Amino acid sequence: MPTPAPDTVTLLDDRTGQRTESTVTYGTYPRYGAAIPAIDLRTLKVDDDDFGLLTYDPGFMNTASCRSAITFVDGDRGILLHRGYTIEELAERSTFLEVAYLLLEGELPTADQLADWTHRVTHHTIVHESLKKFMDGFRYDAHPMGMLVSTVAALSTFYPEARDVRDGASRAKQIQRLVAKMPTIAAFAYRHSIGMPYVYPDNDLSYTGNFLNMMFRMTERTYLPNPVLEHALDVLFILHADHEQNCSTSVMRSVGSSLADPYVAVAAASAALSGPLHGGANEQVLRMLETIGSTDQVPKYIERVKAGEFRLMGFGHRVYKNHDPRATVIKKITEQVLAQTGSSPLLDVAVELERIALEDDYFVERKLYPNVDFYSGLIYQAIGLPTTMFSVLFAIARTVGWLAQWQEMLGDPELKIVRPRQVYTGEDTRTYVPIEGRG
Ligand code: ACO
Repeated sequence: MPTPAPDTVTLLDDRTGQRTESTVTYGTYPRYGAAIPAIDLRTLKVDDDDFGLLTYDPGFMNTASCRSAITFVDGDRGILLHRGYTIEELAERSTFLEVAYLLLEGELPTADQLADWTHRVTHHTIVHESLKKFMDGFRYDAHPMGMLVSTVAALSTFYPEARDVRDGASRAKQIQRLVAKMPTIAAFAYRHSIGMPYVYPDNDLSYTGNFLNMMFRMTERTYLPNPVLEHALDVLFILHADHEQNCSTSVMRSVGSSLADPYVAVAAASAALSGPLHGGANEQVLRMLETIGSTDQVPKYIERVKAGEFRLMGFGHRVYKNHDPRATVIKKITEQVLAQTGSSPLLDVAVELERIALEDDYFVERKLYPNVDFYSGLIYQAIGLPTTMFSVLFAIARTVGWLAQWQEMLGDPELKIVRPRQVYTGEDTRTYVPIEGRG
């Protein structure tokens, strides 16, 4: 791939007149990212005592933490690429396991490679019986995301060899296990929360078909998933598979950078995903739509959002400032699913909310558009998946992205344990005062 030749920029310190030259490195093309090493700033000092300049970037608004060849997001143009393929094309033409292979291996699989990968994932879906007992220990009303986070962390104790993260063969095995077992743990968490017996995986079904089986099978001999819903879920998994250096992926890389095993790292990433500003958003969207209740209540609700009382959930994105391409695919799938399951009054509320918000100056000026989570909750609800499971579903899909990023990171010759700096604003060194002299 063509990589532009390095250029330089000269940094001028107005405090001292000192200049320093810094080399710019580019992504595949300059528009794919260009950066200078932040460490170059450290040479800029007002005197010898000075630590040197740092960049100050709360929330990492403009900091590249790694080089990555997996996913590219162009927020201004509304583009999402996985290994160079557009998300629209992958959602239209691939299956989730095919996209998982692409993210992890860098290329779309051949028919033989896909058959082998599918076989390997399918035959690692069962979890150790002790893990099932571990899950039995949760309270009847435990949130499934809490159960998922804890249970994935517990997997670490079943596979001690996973700690050898430098061993490529072991890494591949753990990746396979995690991709295979996440749906099982997720479904078990749900079944536990409704007091139903766990359903074992059915290896004859697809990845999403088997997940629906483990979620919903009752007394039937063989569970036959509805093909429209099975496909919709597969597309949703594709749309959620990876999204470059988002909050949870950064956590995966941060935890992984200490060479922790992938189970605890995925548990940590899942914990980050559970927050309402990240993977918890679709749950909040549904709650919001239920609170609004009917289309005539939408204008009043929008006014309260504009007054700063709360945010419009499922709107806005740190990176997409034009449209979220995943939201466009989801809207289409929502229509297909609801044609199958019957319309939802909440869909009318969502459509009206989107229509009014997109015409309103408050949202237009701030470039706030529906994100991937605005409609996904409606699909999940139509499939019969409870609200508390929404972020769990997101975690199943994103596990692939976390693992692809983790694997890439471990192979990066520039890998260093993550350790950001700070600008200290506390007290200077002071004299200790014994307790009787304080106050
Ligand atoms: N509703 C109303 N106002 C909003 C919203 C929203 N959903 N999102 C941002 N704004 C406003 C802010 O109040 C702020 O206004 P101000 O300039 O007058 O203070 C401005 O837009 C910029 O907001 P920031 O918080 O600085 O934007 P940031 O890029 O940091 O936040 C985020 C992105 C967290 C996604 C935000 O848009 C949000 O909270 N959205 C709702 C939650 C949500 O849907 N999260 C899912 C994200 S997608 C995902 O994780 C898969």
